[in-house]
Formats: sequence, C-alpha cells, structure tokens
Amino acid sequence: MQLPEDFLLGVATSSFQIEGALDQDGRGPSIWDVFELANGDTGEKACDHYHLYREDVKLIKGLGASAYRFSIAWPRVVPDGEGKVNPKGLDFYSRLVDELLEQEIEPWATLYHWDLPLALHEKGGWKSRETALRFAEYTNHILDALGDRVKHWFTLNEPWCTAILGYQTGEHAPGERADTATVLKIIHNLLLAHGYSLQQIREAGDDHLAGIVLNPWIPLPLTESREDREAAERAWQEQVGWWFEPLFEGHYPSNVKMIRQSEMPEILDGDLELISAETDFMGLNLYFPGFVRHAPEAAPFYYEECGSLVNLPRTEMGWHVYPPVLSYALAQISKRYKPKAIYVTENGCATPDLLDDRGGINDLFRKEYLRTHMLEALRSREQEGVPLKGYFVWSLMDNYEWQYGYSKRFGLVHVDYDTLERTPKTSARWFAGLARKRRVDPWLHMETAAGPLVRRKQSG
Ligand code: FCB
Repeated sequence: MQLPEDFLLGVATSSFQIEGALDQDGRGPSIWDVFELANGDTGEKACDHYHLYREDVKLIKGLGASAYRFSIAWPRVVPDGEGKVNPKGLDFYSRLVDELLEQEIEPWATLYHWDLPLALHEKGGWKSRETALRFAEYTNHILDALGDRVKHWFTLNEPWCTAILGYQTGEHAPGERADTATVLKIIHNLLLAHGYSLQQIREAGDDHLAGIVLNPWIPLPLTESREDREAAERAWQEQVGWWFEPLFEGHYPSNVKMIRQSEMPEILDGDLELISAETDFMGLNLYFPGFVRHAPEAAPFYYEECGSLVNLPRTEMGWHVYPPVLSYALAQISKRYKPKAIYVTENGCATPDLLDDRGGINDLFRKEYLRTHMLEALRSREQEGVPLKGYFVWSLMDNYEWQYGYSKRFGLVHVDYDTLERTPKTSARWFAGLARKRRVDPWLHMETAAGPLVRRKQSG
C-alpha cells in the first residue's frame, strides 16, 4: 500500500524519557525526578540525549523520517514552573530545533509530556486551576523562543495518564490516590490548560498549527450480541466521550454527567468554550484494544473489561496485539467528533530484543506490529475517508518507560544504557525502507538488521 504524498512519517520521544541531565544547566526538578521506582531506575542519565542530541538527529535522518515529535521539559525552561525563565534550558531546545531543520526534519513539539515542575506540584499541581494558567505562561515563553522555527504544537500528551495513573491509581508521578471528584476536577484543569495554551498559540499567528494528544481506551464488544454492543457503547461514553465531547463538542457527555452529578467539577462560565476551541489536528496514541461485555452487576455503567477472555498475542507490556483496533478507532473518532485532521502520534510495542546470527537486533515482532498497524491506519484513510495525515512510531529509541524504568524497550534503535551506544534494530531498517519506497508491504519479509535472513541462491 502506497503512502499518500502528503502523509507524514515520523518518530516520537519525550523529554524525561530520553534527556537525562536532570540537574544540569539550571533545570528544576520535576515530579518524576522524585518518583521512586521499585527497581531503582531513575531518569538521571536515561539516553543522555541532552548531550547526544546531534547524534540522535542523525539517527532520525538515517531512518528517513520527515518529522520528529519530541517534548519540551517545562522544568528545564521554567525551573519553578512559574516566574524566572532559564535561558540555558531554552537554548537546548533551540539547538535541537536548528539541528532538525538543518537535516530537513520537521520539529513537532509537545509542550507537556508529564514532567510537571515539582514546585508547582507542591502548590497543588493539577488539582489547582492555577496550574493551567502557569502552563499558558510557559507556552508563551516557548513560542517566544522557538515560534520562529517550530510551527506544529501539541499542548498535552495523554492527559488521561496524568489524571488517572498520576492521581487515581498512583502508578505514575505524583503517585496519588485521589477520589473520583478530585480526579474529575484534575481532568477539567488539564483540559483548561490545553485551552489556555491553545489560546497563546493562536495569538502567535496563523502559521502555527496545534492540537492535543489523546489515548482513548477503545472498547470493542466481546461478542456481536446486542447486549455486548450496548455495553461497549456505554464504555465508550464513559471512557472516550469524557475527553472527546468537551474538546470537540463543548460539553461533558450528558448521560455520564448525570450519573456523576455529585462528583462533577466546578465549571466556570467560558470554560467549555475555551476547552472546545477548534484545533488544527488531534494526535491519537494507540497501542492495544479494549474488550468489554455486558455485566448486569457492574453498576453504574454495566460493563466489564474482559481482556483476559481474549486469546490474542501480547507484547512485553502484556498489551494485546490487534491491528484492526487502529482503523476502528480512527473511523469512529472521525465520524463522531470530526477533527479537522488526525495524526497517529504514537504506536509501537515493547518486545524482548533478540540478537540475530549476525549480531544485529532482530525485532521482527516490532516490525510486524508496525507494518500491520500502519496498513490499518492507511486503510482507514482510503476506505473510511478518515483525515489521517501522518504516523509517528513510538519510539525513536529505547528509553525510560515510566513506572517500568528501562525494563521495557520500545525503540527502533537499541540503546545500551551502560555505554549509551545506539544500534538500529531490524525494525529501523524496515522503517528506513518504508520511508524510501513510501510503500507498506502487504506481506512479511524475513529480513534482519544486516540484510535478508534467507538469500536466494544465484541461479546459473
Ligand atoms: C504512552 C506514552 C509514552 C510511552 C508509551 C509507551 O502512553 O505517551 O511516553 O511511554 O506510552
């Protein structure tokens, strides 16, 4: 399948996961700096991208990617989250952007990929509405410094993770376990932060394009029965609608709101207009499907997650592999909420990386995962008319995978965390071929990082 001419092919990373250099050049601490993992891993060194960024831009160039989605660390730029700006922090991103442009790689910047300045957390973090205003000020500093060269912006990455994993289950920093009412307030504050930030970007001029990155959990009905399909629809309203309806329609889903009356956040005049201001595109991060079935005892939404009943392959994260969920999600989102354009901003998988017989890293599982998901994404554009404009692989290279530390590898490029050596895997070689030919093969080729696994005998 041919990649359409205007289709952007990119790779993605985020600041805390790759940069390291946490206490260098005036960076302030973030909530992730002090979040302790059971296995003791920290972000202190990570991939040392802060020092090796030039080499990393060369890697991106080598992959043939035309865009790079990276994030800016708020505490590197505004160490206390508010007030004084750190010129050295800004300078790092400015150099990175110059390097990308020099290599003809388009910079796509995410303003918030979870590394909240610790000082703001101490003042209430996302529980406080004030944090949304501080985010707008920080956005402004970034626009002043990089806006002449960066034209594509994502406000927040996966605010679901911030609210739910950060403040409800406690799996992510800051590791809190708040009640539902507090979590809903946090979600509202995050959406406001997106809205305020977007307002700043709009003021910077029409040549700036922006959107938010969401990671909806997509519920597929376990069976075709009417009951399961209705259960999946209720799950959609609760899980997906809660984010998409305020952003694209200017209201929280009415049926869900009714059920949660007593837990609803305070909504001030103008909030929902701000939150639903039109964006130029949205980013979809998607890794796995959800499966649900009707559950008469599971009040108030009467569905249950039933992934354990599904016999599908899983990645190292334990996530099911089911490529059609990507075309389904894209088609549903585009039909229901009509975003102007959609980019798949993250898709990829963690796998154990086996060495092949030539010393390369043979991640055929990843290559197949990416190839089949990409085919589904393209199919949704061709057959369902989804305004899909591009696809970013997560991730350029192995990195700090949040609560799992360095134990999960998502990269096209392998990173040796002792020597920091970068080694492109089989999937990187495949990606480079795809970028060159601009065609996704409809079948599997047994190739390795060093070349084809099986060479045909020369005849004659
Ligand atoms: C997403 C995150 C990204 C990475 C991938 C595996 O939820 O946005 O930083 O951790 O998952």
